[in-house]
Amino acid sequence: MEQLKQLRAQAEQAIQNCDTLSKLNDCRVEYLGKKGPLQEAMKEMKNLDPADRPAFGASVNEIKSFIASLIEEKKAELEVKEMNERLEKEKIDITLDGFEPNLGNVHPLTLVQQELEDLFIGLGYTVAEGPEVEMDLYNFERANIPHGHPARDMQDTFYIDAERLLRTHTTAIQTRQLEAHAPKLPIKVICPGKVYRRDDDDATHSHQFTQMEGLVVAEGIQLSDLKGTLEFMAKKMFGDKRVIRFRPSYFQFTEPSVEVDVSCHICNGKGCPVCKHTGWIEILGAGMVHPNVLEMAGYDSTKCSGFAFGVGVERVAMLKYGIDDIRHFYTNDVRFLKVFSRFD
Ligand code: DAH
Repeated sequence: MEQLKQLRAQAEQAIQNCDTLSKLNDCRVEYLGKKGPLQEAMKEMKNLDPADRPAFGASVNEIKSFIASLIEEKKAELEVKEMNERLEKEKIDITLDGFEPNLGNVHPLTLVQQELEDLFIGLGYTVAEGPEVEMDLYNFERANIPHGHPARDMQDTFYIDAERLLRTHTTAIQTRQLEAHAPKLPIKVICPGKVYRRDDDDATHSHQFTQMEGLVVAEGIQLSDLKGTLEFMAKKMFGDKRVIRFRPSYFQFTEPSVEVDVSCHICNGKGCPVCKHTGWIEILGAGMVHPNVLEMAGYDSTKCSGFAFGVGVERVAMLKYGIDDIRHFYTNDVRFLKVFSRFD
């Protein structure tokens, strides 16, 4: 009985000393487990005087439940303690700076295309698109470039089969628009889109690039309307001081045809490397829509007339932002693209 008393006190002390749940568990195994001192004590019962057995048994049981309830108490206490420690350790400091998400920005070509679209929408134009895989009919035939005509060689073409190709110019959208509207007047559209040529890529050539076609057809449209429109565009894109000039040129689908130069926005026309010391920069081709083109689409060319132009979006972007290589637009170097986040 004396030993039992000691054991009781010893267990109580051991439980009090436990500072973690795992130590407490070890304690439980030690005192209440199958090989523990209380089990051993029970085995000793048979050696006792039968008269002493009940009191001894009761005492062992009392100690057992005493230890069990101490363990339960301690367990509850340690659980709270460990939870609090975890909460303390895992606390999130919401005052710390976060990571800034890596945001993209609009591609420079999209930027320039949108700028061009906005200025023409402001003039009352609508935006029209068309298929990139185009029929020979709309890309060439309806643009007054018949089969076997040498003008086809000027635009090295990716053919898909005898009838289909990757459009070489947005003039294909122009001919579709004419057909879609005929015989209604007026037509006032811009037609942006990707075009393809079998060119070797270099600093100024890309097998895929972007054009924007403009087309106006109505009664009495004249070359002076074209000139006013393009001068407005040049000033909007390159600054109020810009002027334009027309040079005679030749396109199958316009008559007369012109090439349009803008006075150099770098040197104000004095001459610099960008304008190759001429004071002028060529930006687009244009002209009065050829009567054949109007007639093929279903218009009476004696009753209406139109102007058209085709501008290279990369070319405008390169001039506007001083970009020296067209391949920058397509190689997706983030350092290059990021520069344009300032212009969004
Ligand atoms: N289609 C011509 C080209 O790709 C550009 C062009 C010139 C379009 C004159 C026109 C135009 O509408 O009138 O090179």
